[in-house]
Amino acid sequence: MNIEQQKKIAAEKATEEVKNGMILGLGTGSTVYYALLKLGEMIRDGLNIIGIPTSEGTEKIALEQNIPLSTLTTHPTIELTIDGADEVDAKLNLIKGGGAALVREKIIANASKRIVIVVDESKVSQVLGTTFSLPVEVIRFGWDATQREVNRICGKSDLRGGIEDPLITDNGNYILDCHFEGIPEPDKIELQLNNIPGVVENGIFVDRADKVIIGTSNGIKYME
Ligand code: A5P
Repeated sequence: MNIEQQKKIAAEKATEEVKNGMILGLGTGSTVYYALLKLGEMIRDGLNIIGIPTSEGTEKIALEQNIPLSTLTTHPTIELTIDGADEVDAKLNLIKGGGAALVREKIIANASKRIVIVVDESKVSQVLGTTFSLPVEVIRFGWDATQREVNRICGKSDLRGGIEDPLITDNGNYILDCHFEGIPEPDKIELQLNNIPGVVENGIFVDRADKVIIGTSNGIKYME
Protein backbone atom coordinates (compact mmCIF):
# COMPACT_ATOMS: atom_id res chain seq x y z
CA MET A 1 0.00 0.00 0.00
CA ASN A 2 1.42 3.39 -0.94
CA ILE A 3 1.37 6.49 1.32
CA GLU A 4 -1.80 7.87 -0.26
CA GLN A 5 -3.65 4.59 0.31
CA GLN A 6 -2.33 4.51 3.90
CA LYS A 7 -3.75 7.99 4.52
CA LYS A 8 -7.09 6.95 3.07
CA ILE A 9 -7.54 3.79 5.13
CA ALA A 10 -6.56 5.56 8.36
CA ALA A 11 -8.92 8.47 7.73
CA GLU A 12 -11.82 6.28 6.71
CA LYS A 13 -11.31 4.07 9.76
CA ALA A 14 -11.61 7.14 12.02
CA THR A 15 -15.02 7.99 10.56
CA GLU A 16 -16.32 4.72 12.05
CA GLU A 17 -16.29 6.53 15.42
CA VAL A 18 -18.68 9.20 14.14
CA LYS A 19 -22.21 8.83 15.53
CA ASN A 20 -25.44 10.47 14.50
CA GLY A 21 -25.98 13.89 16.08
CA MET A 22 -22.29 14.43 16.92
CA ILE A 23 -20.51 17.77 17.05
CA LEU A 24 -17.33 16.92 15.18
CA GLY A 25 -14.01 18.77 14.97
CA LEU A 26 -12.73 18.69 11.41
CA GLY A 27 -8.94 18.69 11.18
CA THR A 28 -6.78 19.93 8.33
CA GLY A 29 -4.51 18.26 5.81
CA SER A 30 -4.21 15.70 3.08
CA THR A 31 -5.02 12.76 5.38
CA VAL A 32 -8.12 14.28 6.98
CA TYR A 33 -9.23 15.11 3.44
CA TYR A 34 -10.20 11.46 3.00
CA ALA A 35 -12.25 11.59 6.20
CA LEU A 36 -14.09 14.64 4.87
CA LEU A 37 -14.92 12.81 1.65
CA LYS A 38 -16.15 9.82 3.65
CA LEU A 39 -18.26 12.05 5.92
CA GLY A 40 -19.81 13.61 2.81
CA GLU A 41 -20.76 10.11 1.67
CA MET A 42 -22.17 9.25 5.11
CA ILE A 43 -24.22 12.47 5.13
CA ARG A 44 -25.64 11.60 1.72
CA ASP A 45 -26.67 8.28 3.30
CA GLY A 46 -28.51 10.07 6.13
CA LEU A 47 -25.87 10.84 8.80
CA ASN A 48 -26.65 13.98 10.77
CA ILE A 49 -23.60 15.81 12.21
CA ILE A 50 -22.31 19.33 12.72
CA GLY A 51 -18.67 20.03 11.89
CA ILE A 52 -16.37 22.69 13.33
CA PRO A 53 -13.51 23.25 10.86
CA THR A 54 -9.91 23.93 11.89
CA SER A 55 -9.02 25.97 8.80
CA GLU A 56 -10.47 27.87 5.89
CA GLY A 57 -9.24 25.08 3.62
CA THR A 58 -11.17 22.47 5.58
CA GLU A 59 -14.23 24.71 5.68
CA LYS A 60 -14.18 24.89 1.89
CA ILE A 61 -13.90 21.11 1.45
CA ALA A 62 -16.57 20.50 4.09
CA LEU A 63 -18.98 22.86 2.33
CA GLU A 64 -18.32 21.06 -0.96
CA GLN A 65 -19.25 17.84 0.82
CA ASN A 66 -22.43 19.41 2.28
CA ILE A 67 -21.20 18.90 5.84
CA PRO A 68 -23.23 21.30 8.03
CA LEU A 69 -20.83 23.67 9.82
CA SER A 70 -20.91 25.69 12.99
CA THR A 71 -18.55 27.54 15.32
CA LEU A 72 -17.17 27.13 18.82
CA THR A 73 -19.34 30.08 19.86
CA THR A 74 -22.50 28.13 19.10
CA HIS A 75 -21.09 24.71 20.03
CA PRO A 76 -18.35 25.16 22.64
CA THR A 77 -17.96 21.43 23.29
CA ILE A 78 -16.85 19.06 20.56
CA GLU A 79 -17.49 15.36 21.08
CA LEU A 80 -14.91 14.02 18.66
CA THR A 81 -12.17 15.60 16.53
CA ILE A 82 -10.47 13.80 13.67
CA ASP A 83 -7.18 15.44 12.72
CA GLY A 84 -3.85 14.65 11.11
CA ALA A 85 -0.29 15.11 12.38
CA ASP A 86 3.19 15.59 10.99
CA GLU A 87 5.01 13.53 13.59
CA VAL A 88 3.77 11.19 16.34
CA ASP A 89 5.79 9.62 19.16
CA ALA A 90 5.04 6.50 21.18
CA LYS A 91 3.39 8.57 23.94
CA LEU A 92 0.96 10.02 21.38
CA ASN A 93 2.59 13.43 21.50
CA LEU A 94 2.39 15.23 18.19
CA ILE A 95 3.92 17.83 15.96
CA LYS A 96 1.26 19.58 13.92
CA GLY A 97 1.10 22.64 11.70
CA GLY A 98 2.59 21.40 8.44
CA GLY A 99 -0.59 22.77 6.88
CA ALA A 100 -0.28 26.03 8.87
CA ALA A 101 -3.50 25.38 10.82
CA LEU A 102 -1.93 24.70 14.22
CA VAL A 103 -3.55 27.55 16.17
CA ARG A 104 -7.11 26.68 15.25
CA GLU A 105 -6.27 22.98 15.56
CA LYS A 106 -5.07 23.49 19.13
CA ILE A 107 -8.13 25.56 20.05
CA ILE A 108 -10.40 22.86 18.61
CA ALA A 109 -8.35 20.16 20.37
CA ASN A 110 -8.76 21.99 23.65
CA ALA A 111 -12.53 22.01 23.21
CA SER A 112 -12.70 18.32 22.25
CA LYS A 113 -13.68 15.44 24.53
CA ARG A 114 -11.95 12.93 22.27
CA ILE A 115 -9.27 13.29 19.61
CA VAL A 116 -8.44 10.70 16.99
CA ILE A 117 -5.32 11.34 14.90
CA VAL A 118 -4.96 9.83 11.45
CA VAL A 119 -1.54 9.33 9.85
CA ASP A 120 0.42 7.19 7.44
CA GLU A 121 3.34 5.17 8.74
CA SER A 122 5.96 7.79 7.76
CA LYS A 123 4.71 10.04 10.59
CA VAL A 124 5.67 7.71 13.46
CA SER A 125 8.94 8.65 15.15
CA GLN A 126 10.99 7.74 18.23
CA VAL A 127 11.62 11.32 19.32
CA LEU A 128 9.55 14.32 18.21
CA GLY A 129 11.38 16.89 16.15
CA THR A 130 13.68 14.42 14.43
CA THR A 131 11.69 13.99 11.21
CA PHE A 132 9.74 17.26 11.02
CA SER A 133 10.53 20.89 11.76
CA LEU A 134 8.32 22.39 14.45
CA PRO A 135 5.94 25.07 13.14
CA VAL A 136 5.59 28.13 15.36
CA GLU A 137 3.00 30.79 14.48
CA VAL A 138 4.20 34.34 15.18
CA ILE A 139 2.60 37.71 14.64
CA ARG A 140 4.06 39.75 11.80
CA PHE A 141 5.01 42.75 13.92
CA GLY A 142 8.61 42.30 15.00
CA TRP A 143 8.66 38.77 13.62
CA ASP A 144 12.47 38.76 13.21
CA ALA A 145 12.97 39.83 16.83
CA THR A 146 10.63 36.99 17.80
CA GLN A 147 12.62 34.64 15.58
CA ARG A 148 15.85 35.48 17.41
CA GLU A 149 14.21 34.47 20.69
CA VAL A 150 12.78 31.32 19.14
CA ASN A 151 16.23 30.42 17.78
CA ARG A 152 17.65 30.56 21.32
CA ILE A 153 15.47 27.53 22.00
CA CYS A 154 15.67 25.60 18.74
CA GLY A 155 18.94 26.78 17.20
CA LYS A 156 17.67 27.60 13.73
CA SER A 157 14.37 28.40 12.06
CA ASP A 158 13.08 29.47 8.66
CA LEU A 159 10.29 31.87 7.81
CA ARG A 160 7.85 29.68 5.88
CA GLY A 161 7.64 30.82 2.27
CA GLY A 162 10.75 33.00 2.61
CA ILE A 163 11.11 36.74 3.09
CA GLU A 164 9.95 37.55 -0.48
CA ASP A 165 6.71 35.62 -0.25
CA PRO A 166 5.99 34.59 3.33
CA LEU A 167 3.08 32.30 4.02
CA ILE A 168 0.23 34.07 5.79
CA THR A 169 -1.91 31.86 8.04
CA ASP A 170 -5.70 31.96 8.29
CA ASN A 171 -5.11 34.20 11.32
CA GLY A 172 -2.96 36.69 9.39
CA ASN A 173 0.35 35.58 10.93
CA TYR A 174 3.69 34.08 9.85
CA ILE A 175 5.04 30.58 10.48
CA LEU A 176 8.59 29.85 11.63
CA ASP A 177 9.69 26.28 10.97
CA CYS A 178 12.09 25.39 13.77
CA HIS A 179 14.83 22.85 13.20
CA PHE A 180 15.35 20.96 16.42
CA GLU A 181 17.62 17.96 16.65
CA GLY A 182 14.93 16.18 18.63
CA ILE A 183 12.46 17.37 21.27
CA PRO A 184 12.79 14.82 24.09
CA GLU A 185 10.78 16.99 26.52
CA PRO A 186 7.98 18.39 24.36
CA ASP A 187 5.91 19.64 27.31
CA LYS A 188 8.74 21.97 28.38
CA ILE A 189 9.50 23.25 24.88
CA GLU A 190 5.81 23.87 24.19
CA LEU A 191 5.61 26.17 27.21
CA GLN A 192 8.99 27.87 26.63
CA LEU A 193 8.09 28.80 23.06
CA ASN A 194 4.65 30.08 24.00
CA ASN A 195 6.26 32.29 26.64
CA ILE A 196 8.04 34.38 23.98
CA PRO A 197 6.25 37.65 23.16
CA GLY A 198 5.10 37.48 19.53
CA VAL A 199 4.59 33.72 19.53
CA VAL A 200 0.92 32.92 19.05
CA GLU A 201 1.17 29.14 19.40
CA ASN A 202 3.40 26.24 18.43
CA GLY A 203 2.71 22.85 16.89
CA ILE A 204 3.58 20.66 19.89
CA PHE A 205 0.52 18.78 21.10
CA VAL A 206 1.27 16.96 24.36
CA ASP A 207 -1.12 14.49 25.90
CA ARG A 208 -4.02 15.50 23.70
CA ALA A 209 -4.55 12.58 21.32
CA ASP A 210 -6.69 9.71 22.63
CA LYS A 211 -5.93 7.42 19.74
CA VAL A 212 -3.69 7.39 16.67
CA ILE A 213 -4.82 5.42 13.65
CA ILE A 214 -1.86 4.57 11.42
CA GLY A 215 -2.26 3.41 7.86
CA THR A 216 0.68 1.10 7.10
CA SER A 217 1.76 -0.99 4.14
CA ASN A 218 0.28 -3.97 6.01
CA GLY A 219 -3.02 -2.36 6.96
CA ILE A 220 -4.18 -0.42 10.00
CA LYS A 221 -2.36 -0.13 13.33
CA TYR A 222 -3.40 1.71 16.47
CA MET A 223 -1.70 3.57 19.29
CA GLU A 224 -3.80 4.52 22.30
C1 A5P B 1 -2.22 21.23 9.60
O1 A5P B 1 -1.70 22.41 10.08
C2 A5P B 1 -1.49 20.09 10.18
O2 A5P B 1 -1.45 20.05 11.55
C3 A5P B 1 -1.95 18.79 9.59
O3 A5P B 1 -2.90 18.15 10.38
C4 A5P B 1 -0.74 17.96 9.46
O4 A5P B 1 0.21 18.78 8.77
C5 A5P B 1 -0.96 16.69 8.70
O5 A5P B 1 -1.19 16.97 7.37
P1 A5P B 1 -1.14 15.84 6.28
O6 A5P B 1 -2.22 14.88 6.62
O7 A5P B 1 -1.38 16.59 4.99
O8 A5P B 1 0.22 15.23 6.33
